[in-house]
Amino acid sequence: MENNAPFWNDSVGYIIYPETFCDGNGDGVGDIPGIVSKLDYLKELGVNLLWICPLFASPMDDNGYDVSDYYKINPLYGTEEDFKKLLEEAHKRGLRIVVDFVLNHTSDEHPWFQKALSDPSSPERGYYFFRKGVRQGDQLLPPNNWKGFFSTSVWENVEGTDDFYMHIFSKKMPDVDWSNPELRQRYYEIARHYLDMGVDGFRLDALAHLAKDLSFASSSLPADENGLVYDTSRFSNRPEVLDYLLEFKKEVLAPKHAFSIGEVGGGVSPEEALRYCDRQSGPINMVFNFDTAWCNGAYGSIDKNDEEIFTDVLELKRNFMRWYDACHEKADMPLYWCNHDHPRVLSQYGSTKYRNESAKALATILLFFYGTPFIYNGDEIGMSNAEYAKPEDFFRDVSTKNEVLSLRARGYSDAQITHYLCRTSRANARTPMQWNHEENAGFGKKIAVNALNENYKEGVNVLDQMKDPWSIINFFQYAILKRREPEINDIVLHGKLHILDFNHPDVLAYMHEGKENLVVIASLRPYETYFSFYHMIRDVVLHNYGDVLLKDHVFTLRPFECFLLKV
Ligand code: NOJ
Repeated sequence: MENNAPFWNDSVGYIIYPETFCDGNGDGVGDIPGIVSKLDYLKELGVNLLWICPLFASPMDDNGYDVSDYYKINPLYGTEEDFKKLLEEAHKRGLRIVVDFVLNHTSDEHPWFQKALSDPSSPERGYYFFRKGVRQGDQLLPPNNWKGFFSTSVWENVEGTDDFYMHIFSKKMPDVDWSNPELRQRYYEIARHYLDMGVDGFRLDALAHLAKDLSFASSSLPADENGLVYDTSRFSNRPEVLDYLLEFKKEVLAPKHAFSIGEVGGGVSPEEALRYCDRQSGPINMVFNFDTAWCNGAYGSIDKNDEEIFTDVLELKRNFMRWYDACHEKADMPLYWCNHDHPRVLSQYGSTKYRNESAKALATILLFFYGTPFIYNGDEIGMSNAEYAKPEDFFRDVSTKNEVLSLRARGYSDAQITHYLCRTSRANARTPMQWNHEENAGFGKKIAVNALNENYKEGVNVLDQMKDPWSIINFFQYAILKRREPEINDIVLHGKLHILDFNHPDVLAYMHEGKENLVVIASLRPYETYFSFYHMIRDVVLHNYGDVLLKDHVFTLRPFECFLLKV
């Protein structure tokens, strides 16, 4: 380990979804006092870098990603005093806090937007994208045919006028115009405010979308049944984003030595991403991509049968390696399987039948790959998808709600839609955290949002698992401890990594060559498979079965069997 290495090179991250993490005041919604009460738990688990989803005042149309006052803590979550206490208590325990900074859009209830609506000649009007619609006979059409991320046009009419404002997410989340220098300064002030309070850095939400194609010309790509075109190139990863971020770095991040991790999403190649996070020239420290999150055909899979959804292990390996090849020794890389925007990884790539085995295999793959791992709350006990019974059960998530409306309009039945949502909706990862097997899974006195998964009664909870030496949580704790051992960390970050038996369709295995050689072997199948292995095993560091089946240089791997070996 280099002595002057930044703290995130020696960190294991943990993602907290505050609404359903832990309820401290008994109102049925998670909150900051609830998080504070779990800091000892997190410290003991071994993580040390907490990314907490937005905590700021919000009407909660998109559960906090629609901010109505950046300077105020969401009263649902607590007060500024609570937030300061969180920082203090976390820092006392050596845990860093990364706050989610939403800077591509505000809530439509934010005073800037309200002012922009009420006074078209105000400076705030220039903080947003207002454009005239097109009159066609007695119809008023939006300024162009762009479709946003939440299944609707990116344009919403301002009632009683010909004006529309742009929103690439929900209509209650108007996009702000980063080409406006005054707007940028407003965001820098907010960032400084939180850095002065002591936060360690920011997860920069929807960062890739800060710049738009300001010609606002319609896209000529194929349109959907409503004439809308999902052409994200019009508002994603455009070159001006880098200019904005370089300024942000110079004016705010660098002087305050703040950590920054940006969400760049689907469409960006690793080489493009390097422009953001190259250690020498990039404006930010890391970027999250989605490439390893959907390698099972589930995305958009409403017309597929369950048999068609299975982990594409080769695709996973290709994606991991594309990012490794581009980033190793040039850029730091975050690793994650799941966050609040994806279904649970156990339901994506693992198996509820082999919950214990598959949760451990997935943990091992993630924790020992090159990069800084981020664990999503609940993955350490093997939480799985929600198993809701009807589309409305998922409606707390506005993106799922819009998708349901659009699928119903296309003629799908509620049964088909529910089946699909149980597989894909991000609401699956937003059920309350399961702390014990008692009432409400120990989340709090009641539950006001997102019903629980009943499997907390069957051992999928923290307390029961802590008592079981072979549990998922104890495996995570030991694996994190190993991952943070300086010698292992050094090999993981600086060793030369290659995939073993790349063409094996069922097994993901890799080796780091360093002072010692570290090997991960993990089956991603619910059936037995074989794996040839010719290296001399010096130590079995992690394993999720009681005995080893190795004969004539061939492992027999049982469902989701995994190893971390020193060879
Ligand atoms: C990404 C966030 O992770 C997601 O939850 C949110 O809906 C969008 N950005 C919009 O802020």
